[in-house]
Amino acid sequence: MTTILRANLIHTPALGRLETIPRGYLVLEDGVIRGLYEALPEEWAACPVTDYGEALLMPSFADLHLHAPQYPMLGMGMDLPLLDWLDAYTFRTEARFADLNYARRVYRRLAGELIAWGTTRVAVFSSRHTDATLVLMEELERAGVTGYVGKVNMDRNSGPAQETTAQSVDETLRWLEACRFAHVKPILTPRFTPSCTDALMAELGRLAQERDLPVQSHLSENTGEMAWVRELHPDCSQYWETYGKYGLWKAGTLMAHCVHSDGREQAAMAEAGVWAVHCAASNVNLCSGTAPVRELLDRGVRVALGSDIAGGDQLSMSRAVTMAIRASKQKQMETGAPFLTVPEAYYLGSTAGHQYFGGGAGFQPGDRLHAIVVDDAALPEPARELCLSERFERAVYLMEKEHIRAVYSEGRQVK
Ligand code: GUN
Ligand code: FE
Repeated sequence: MTTILRANLIHTPALGRLETIPRGYLVLEDGVIRGLYEALPEEWAACPVTDYGEALLMPSFADLHLHAPQYPMLGMGMDLPLLDWLDAYTFRTEARFADLNYARRVYRRLAGELIAWGTTRVAVFSSRHTDATLVLMEELERAGVTGYVGKVNMDRNSGPAQETTAQSVDETLRWLEACRFAHVKPILTPRFTPSCTDALMAELGRLAQERDLPVQSHLSENTGEMAWVRELHPDCSQYWETYGKYGLWKAGTLMAHCVHSDGREQAAMAEAGVWAVHCAASNVNLCSGTAPVRELLDRGVRVALGSDIAGGDQLSMSRAVTMAIRASKQKQMETGAPFLTVPEAYYLGSTAGHQYFGGGAGFQPGDRLHAIVVDDAALPEPARELCLSERFERAVYLMEKEHIRAVYSEGRQVK
């Protein structure tokens, strides 16, 4: 089936590149992009057109790091540093997800809100609970959110949410067996080095290698955490090696934060093809620091953005984008490293994340459409006529979910 969308087309095919087609046409065949056109080619002249008028059609967001069971604790414990925040709030909140009715309620709402805010691809941490993790996957699939979900592994230092090593391994196997979703796939998720014994890390690494499964975790987020990792693994000179020694450091591994990753750790990421997920709001909220995003990019590390709720206090990825810009300006004031421009940060919060899942350069022919339609006419009336790149900038900074008029995920309209 041919679908033709008409709108102001805006996309970010590469870091720092912004392309616009005023009042252009985007043609889909069964949800797959055929092309973007300034004028509608003759062959489709007879097809009906979905006309979004003056609205902006842009890539949807990809949130490559968030904790689904922390959704109920958004905006809580924000005056604590990471390790105290985990003990005082996080582990207790996650322990509630043994209750499947509670999980269903929270995850249904979360999945709906992700779509409402234009997030169509995710890499999510669940809790340690297998059944609640399956509920999460089901709710995401139902809402039209695609990507990876991980049952979290945590067999030490994890308070009431802790599991034994044998439980953690057995439940991971049971969960992998039960994952049968079309667009939501499993990702192995050792929470972080302090919460996983060596035996557990070794088992997960073996699974990652043997079954070619992707991996996500946390890296060099906070100095207290890093000192703890050094105590736990005196044989490793850097944090990343604690993942490396068990086969968890491989192409496509997602590492959230990397706030304190130095040149050597960054080089290890670039060499292995490990991605850094930058979560600017969380890093400020928990006083973790300001990640060296420009440095990571310059060294050839792939970077995407994450909301990291509930370390981050906003589910909105447009806010994660503007927060990443602000953090990069803070970094520039400290180190002189050039800040992220709006098109650069938007690329990191959208297209880069889609590329993690195999997407191409912006709205690329052959890809299933992941897009949002933003109605910026409801924003305050500007003092003069704005060009498309100005309207894009304003929309990125100011959009609320009410301005997101339509959302396409995997080629299907889901809002
Ligand atoms: N490190 C280990 N667990 C967590 C978590 O839940 N949030 C954040 N921000 N860092 C972590
Ligand atoms: Fe996190």
